[in-house]
Amino acid sequence: MTISLSLSLLLLFCFLSISSTLPSSANPNFVPKSAEDLIRALNLRPGFPDVLESETEDIIGGGDGPRLIEKRLDLEIRGDSGSDASVEELGHHAGYYRLEHTHAARLFYFFFESRGKSNDPVVLWLTGGPGCSSELAVFYENGPFSIADNLSLVWNNYGWDKASNLIYVDQPTGTGFSYSKDVRDLRFGEKGVSDDLYDFLQAFFTAHPNYRKNDFYITGESYAGHYIPAIAQRVYRGNKEKQGLHINLKGFAIGNGLTDPAIQYEAYADYAVEMGIITKTSGNIINKIFPVCELGIKHCGSNGILACLASYMVCNSIFTSILALTDNVNYYDIRKKCEGTLCYDFSNMDKFLNQQSVRTALGVGDRKFVSCSPLVYEAMITDWMKNLEVGIPALVDDGIKVLIYAGEYDLICNWLGNYRWVNSMKWSGQKMFVAAPMDPFTVDGEEAGLLKTYGPLSFLKVHNAGHMVPMDQPKAALEMLKRWIGGDLGEDRGHLRNHQPEELTSYQ
Ligand SMILES: *[C@@H]1O[C@H](CO)[C@@H](O)[C@H](O)[C@H]1NC(C)=O
Repeated sequence: MTISLSLSLLLLFCFLSISSTLPSSANPNFVPKSAEDLIRALNLRPGFPDVLESETEDIIGGGDGPRLIEKRLDLEIRGDSGSDASVEELGHHAGYYRLEHTHAARLFYFFFESRGKSNDPVVLWLTGGPGCSSELAVFYENGPFSIADNLSLVWNNYGWDKASNLIYVDQPTGTGFSYSKDVRDLRFGEKGVSDDLYDFLQAFFTAHPNYRKNDFYITGESYAGHYIPAIAQRVYRGNKEKQGLHINLKGFAIGNGLTDPAIQYEAYADYAVEMGIITKTSGNIINKIFPVCELGIKHCGSNGILACLASYMVCNSIFTSILALTDNVNYYDIRKKCEGTLCYDFSNMDKFLNQQSVRTALGVGDRKFVSCSPLVYEAMITDWMKNLEVGIPALVDDGIKVLIYAGEYDLICNWLGNYRWVNSMKWSGQKMFVAAPMDPFTVDGEEAGLLKTYGPLSFLKVHNAGHMVPMDQPKAALEMLKRWIGGDLGEDRGHLRNHQPEELTSYQ
């Protein structure tokens, strides 16, 4: 353990020192500039005033000092919430959880109680990166509100809190407002990530016993295609072994995720050719890199280090070669150009979160908000090429619902690669799933996507959307969530109910 850890640290720092000379990797903006930036990125400033120690209000939880410190938010939100309850009554919270099996790590989270019913499911959302804050989703995708240009908050009519009690966590440690004073709390892979999240969930449900009986779902996007299966397995195992509170896990959903790299990296060139962003000839040339990438991934396996690093570099040259042939395409939405550090302009979020009044409300003190941490990204680099599909069949076969969805215009975690791994996954219903048709997924009488489903497994290709489906198609995304947690995604009954009531009888 210590040997492999120090070896990976060594490799990590070798990689850090050469990374600035490499061609841009999958996230070209993440090349760290200096040690100072790295320290800031992990919020690792020694002697930082620790607001948490002096925080006494709204303390919940117990034991050896409070592990979970949660504050009720009363941020002003404009517009109509669609609920009779006031914001205070609706219950918006922000908090820190002092992670149990760490030296000094604290995870930041938002908890938004449902605008619908309190017995709505509890839904956890995780943004990817690795190292990108879940606040990206809060403010730009499926949170209760969004940020107007004048920095006021406006209710989001399609926030996922309309149908769920919604938790957003900044993780791994070093992401967003989550921090540690101890560098040993950095996470290098899914074991550390999923153990931390399991501890967090235990603390959360201890502090919120009234939500323990609700259904529980794990959702997220992009690199969370790695986190989510790992955390679902961790929770599943914890339940089986009665390690703590039973967590009522019913399913997990991954949006434009990276889950099975061998299949997904092979799909890059095919997708790019199919969408006409590179020629067939270029596609064939680029795909000559793939066998080397594939070999590297095989050697990386589930606990490799060096081969994982090597395959990360080789495989991502497929991606960067494609990008080099395009005219500054936005790799999260090929209909657009890449403008801004993350190919989009998310600057209002930084402006909003850096206001003193907001920081006070959130209880984050002077801690700098890191929208995407280069250090967390680099630390997770040997995790990148690991195949997280392998743990899913056992869960699906036990009835845990799995929804894989993808906006059709995303390149980086494109629908084609996701579609292929979902089809090739070996589980008891594989034959039936593969044979199932791609049916229209209709929202308000319009085809919003194509859906394939059998038993607990569903795949949805979302039309007119890039990487961030709830940002591009908020209404369809909320509808997807509602039908999925309601158990009627496959039958498309929402559509029938709304528009063809006379046909309902044939479905009863
Ligand atoms: C800011 O913008 C929102 C949404 O456009 C609007 O409702 C609000 O009145 C504006 N606030 C101020 C102070 O101008």
